Amino acid sequence: MDAPKEIFLKDYTKPDYYFETVDLSFSLGEEKTIVSSLIKVSPRVKGSSAPLVLNGHDLKLLSVKVEGKLLKEGDYQLDSRHLTLPSLPAKESFVLEIDTEIYPHKNTSLDGLYKSSGNFCTQCEAEGFRKITFYQDRPDIMAKYTCRVEADKSLYPVLLSNGNLISQGDIEGGRHFALWEDPFKKPCYLFALVAGQLASRDDTFTTRSGREVSLKIWTPAEDLPKTAHAMYSLKAAMKWDEDVFGLEYDLDLFNIVAVPDFNMGAMENKSLNIFNSKLVLASPETATDADYAAILGVIGHEYFHNWTGNRVTCRDWFQLSLKEGLTVFRDQEFSSDMGSRTVKRIADVSTLRIYQFPEDAGPMAHPVRPHSYIKMDNFYTGKFSIYLRSLGFLLSIVFQSNVLVFSFMKRVLISISKDMMSKLVTCEDFFAAMRDANNADFANFLQWYSQAGTPVVKVASSYNAEARTFSLKFSQEIPPTPGQPTKEATFIPVTISSSSTILRVTKKEEEFVFSDIAERPVPSLFRGFSAPVRVETDLSDDDLFFLLAHDSDEFNRPLVLNPKFIQGLGSVLSDSTLDKEFIAKAITLPGEGEIMDMMAVADPDAVHVVRKFVRKQLASELKTELLKIVENNRSIEAYVFDHPNMARRALKNTGSSEYKSATNLTDQFAALAALSQNPGKTRDDVLADFYNKWQGDYLVVNKWFLLQSSSDIPGNVENIHALQTTIIQVYSLIGGFCGSPVNFHAKDGSGYKFLGDIVVQLDKINPQVASRMLSAFSRWKRYDETRQALAKAQLEMIMSANGLSENVFEIASKSLA
Ligand code: PHE
Ligand code: ZN
Repeated sequence: MDAPKEIFLKDYTKPDYYFETVDLSFSLGEEKTIVSSLIKVSPRVKGSSAPLVLNGHDLKLLSVKVEGKLLKEGDYQLDSRHLTLPSLPAKESFVLEIDTEIYPHKNTSLDGLYKSSGNFCTQCEAEGFRKITFYQDRPDIMAKYTCRVEADKSLYPVLLSNGNLISQGDIEGGRHFALWEDPFKKPCYLFALVAGQLASRDDTFTTRSGREVSLKIWTPAEDLPKTAHAMYSLKAAMKWDEDVFGLEYDLDLFNIVAVPDFNMGAMENKSLNIFNSKLVLASPETATDADYAAILGVIGHEYFHNWTGNRVTCRDWFQLSLKEGLTVFRDQEFSSDMGSRTVKRIADVSTLRIYQFPEDAGPMAHPVRPHSYIKMDNFYTGKFSIYLRSLGFLLSIVFQSNVLVFSFMKRVLISISKDMMSKLVTCEDFFAAMRDANNADFANFLQWYSQAGTPVVKVASSYNAEARTFSLKFSQEIPPTPGQPTKEATFIPVTISSSSTILRVTKKEEEFVFSDIAERPVPSLFRGFSAPVRVETDLSDDDLFFLLAHDSDEFNRPLVLNPKFIQGLGSVLSDSTLDKEFIAKAITLPGEGEIMDMMAVADPDAVHVVRKFVRKQLASELKTELLKIVENNRSIEAYVFDHPNMARRALKNTGSSEYKSATNLTDQFAALAALSQNPGKTRDDVLADFYNKWQGDYLVVNKWFLLQSSSDIPGNVENIHALQTTIIQVYSLIGGFCGSPVNFHAKDGSGYKFLGDIVVQLDKINPQVASRMLSAFSRWKRYDETRQALAKAQLEMIMSANGLSENVFEIASKSLA
């Protein structure tokens, strides 16, 4: 392997050559696939003599032609990552033709062109297109594509690519073809191709200007009944984007394909979104409320990318937060409008606390816009944490109003779509547009884009009865992160009490004095989580208890253990004016990881014991209230996915565990989850019963794996070993295991060894997944010395493995640094 190369934002230069049109032709086969590309190339500077450097990875080059002339071996250079053409015609444009051979059936990385359940599919973000053909694989190369796909007709009756279907037909030898044309310029990471045995659920959507768009969701025929919710979600998203942002879909066809093997959640390829099946398929018996909600959100997310990401796209991968931040912001708004805004916010913030804050404090800490990367794939980890604390998240804070964001969006879209090629977007462009469209004062807000780490904000309050003044003193501190020992102050918006005031904290230390205050107030700060920071206030337990009982901002009702705590939760439980889903959230304790993250030295055993104790205590003290809740909120009618029903089930399931009588997976799974934490015969019987019933449905079986791998039962690593021999369901099995602190952090090192071995094995099969699993080690320095030594030994073992991928190298080496 060539030494992994770090790529820096500061080194960005424009490409020497642009690609205007790209005509691709795929001849798909069982043993090999031939990819032919015909590219119209134009130098950026007239008469340029710069070499053209194309990316290529795991490709077999068959031939290169320039202006129809075949190049001989000495006319180009080929290494394991590039094809370089040193001398090119000094013309305004010329034609480049390249033929390559690839082996999709051997591609287990699920990056590039690969096979899933016998069907062909692609994944090109971030840098997968270079595994399909030699190309300038970078977002600032925007071209118009056609794609001809040819394959055996009986094995692959359905042939799809981006854009519109231009023609199709049969050819000799039992083969057939389809020719697709995408009228919009796009970067190659949005290219997609699918070929296989698929059936579609068909529907239409009429845009507000009266165009009829044909919608198709493709799956194996037997799964079609499970696509109703996905289609509902797609139509809801299309309507919402028109209503809220005035954005209409820009083609006449929109395809979604569900595939079982997929590294991420889903991908926004132009007019041909490809999804992990678990984010498409749902039925009341096989999917929980959480699954239904995730499907709604992700279908929305990918659809919204059609404008934010696909039509307006990023100049380079350092600007990732533009497309992802903005699109996450849009999907969060969409889900909030479709369900409960408060509950959605709590869920999003808790994701941020669980994934972003720890990442910020570890070796992979990076600003919203990273300065460098070795493998871009590694920046999509941590539940896409870069998205969360990024443009969208912050936007929602600064504006707290759709109207402003909407006008900003429109302006940006208009200015950019005029001249896409020369105006690929950077964070600076976005901020300029946002400032100009909204007259907004961002102060030193851009620091978020260059500084890593979660700011810690301390707040001290004082009341002066004589002067009738109340003062709030803020101080902010951003902890050091790798490569950034000292930090500047940044703009932190602080929402406060019931007024709609936003305090603009922009300095290291800043005091705000309120006059004419009749008595000492108990301020509710950072309402609705107005900034992604850690807050330390001087509020007393009594103050916090007061807020728990009275704060009108549901978000700000804190969870603190206090003598009055149980009583407080009791009143939350029986407060019929509160949203049921909110109550359910409020009485659920934070997870062990979230609690450990607040400790100076993380102690998994202590956290486990204490959390369990608190749960037990609450359950017995609040038994009457909980039983009443169960009685009043049972599922009687057939499953409906809407907010009132979801809220009712969420609340009921905090108090009950009724496995047998459950009529939907939401209720049944909640019971199963509770039972799986208690070793014994009941547990074994119920798990076996569930498996027997669902063994034919791999998505449900996956959940069954997750339950067991994330179980707290002692010595669980042994059980995982046993399961693993039957099937490798990596995410559920390994991800679940590492997310369950007691067993993963077992003091004998068994959990660490388990992960270390898996990472090395997995890296040979799928580097992206291996490096994501490996991230569980990244915060090893947070634990006691014994654990540190054990984890470090595993990281060193991984580093010494042969043929390490760049993905794993980046995480392991940064973790050890
Ligand atoms: N861009 C995809 C999304 O926003 C995520 C993704 C990234 C998928 C990289 C695959 C690879 O949903
Ligand atoms: Zn996205």
